Amino acid sequence: SSINQLIKNRGKGYFGTATDRGLLQREKNAAIINANFGQVTPENSMKWQSLNPSQGQYNWGDADYLVDFAQQNGKSIRGHTLVWHSQLPQWVANINNADTLRQVIRTHVSTVVGRYKGKIRAWVSLWSWLLDVPHEIYADICQDVVNEIFNEDGTLRSSVFSRLLGEEFVSIAFRAAREADPACRLYINDYNLDRSGASKVNLMRYYVDKWISEGVPIDGIGTQTHLSAGGGAAVQGALQQLATAAVTEVAITELDIANAPTSDYNAVVQGCLNTPKCYGITVWGISDKDSWRTGANPLLFDSNFNPKAAYNSIVTLL
Ligand code: XIL
Repeated sequence: SSINQLIKNRGKGYFGTATDRGLLQREKNAAIINANFGQVTPENSMKWQSLNPSQGQYNWGDADYLVDFAQQNGKSIRGHTLVWHSQLPQWVANINNADTLRQVIRTHVSTVVGRYKGKIRAWVSLWSWLLDVPHEIYADICQDVVNEIFNEDGTLRSSVFSRLLGEEFVSIAFRAAREADPACRLYINDYNLDRSGASKVNLMRYYVDKWISEGVPIDGIGTQTHLSAGGGAAVQGALQQLATAAVTEVAITELDIANAPTSDYNAVVQGCLNTPKCYGITVWGISDKDSWRTGANPLLFDSNFNPKAAYNSIVTLL
């Protein structure tokens, strides 16, 4: 009972998870991902600080490992994340000239998107030892181009990007990503998009529609969906409001729910099923012991890598 296959049977693209090299190399992470999930997001390895800690120097090892894992196992990838105020190297945060920053954003975006451009081809031989007929499978890469750029009050979050360029940095990043890989679906991602009428939901729709009308190539809105217990019920309304924006898709990109109540997980999954533009769901990790929310036990597998009630309830729901 793979929740990835089950959600695909319901017309969605994937049920995925965040992971990275360190996790994939230990315990049951890789086995569980292979058996149950269809998409991976690099939890940290594609962030600017990880890839490019000093100017001119790129460390590809961990991100390549994740991409190779996906390629070899037929998982699609959501790249995460090109432009974000956090986990940003100091040399970028210290830039104080607008033209320099424009060029640095363009170079970073085209370097990362260009490296993983297009369709990653993996050769998977079905009974190849017998039939010698290779099957090509493709793992396409989408990208969270900008992450967490809004304050709750409708202003842009203060960062080197907004201080030097205002909202122009959004356009620069999306256009550079589109140019580097026209087939990659480009997302704007944020948190506190969890209930209809939330200020950031309205703000997101307003800005995304405005930017799209100005020609900024935004394909999707990602809602992180880091919830407290009880927060699941409102998610469907939020997804449906986000889906009224002029994007082709929305996605739940970093789902975790404190204490993982079955009712909340069911409500989120049902909310996606009930929203035609909702393309997929990604949970933010496998085991509770590795969750970034220490002590919250918000994931679908317990500290011993056993499926929790919430996992089983999703299987039943789907
Ligand atoms: C988190 C990772 O899970 C942690 O390992 C890291 O220390 C900090 O970042 N929003 C995001 C994610 O977009 O990138 C964050 O991931 C969680 C919040």
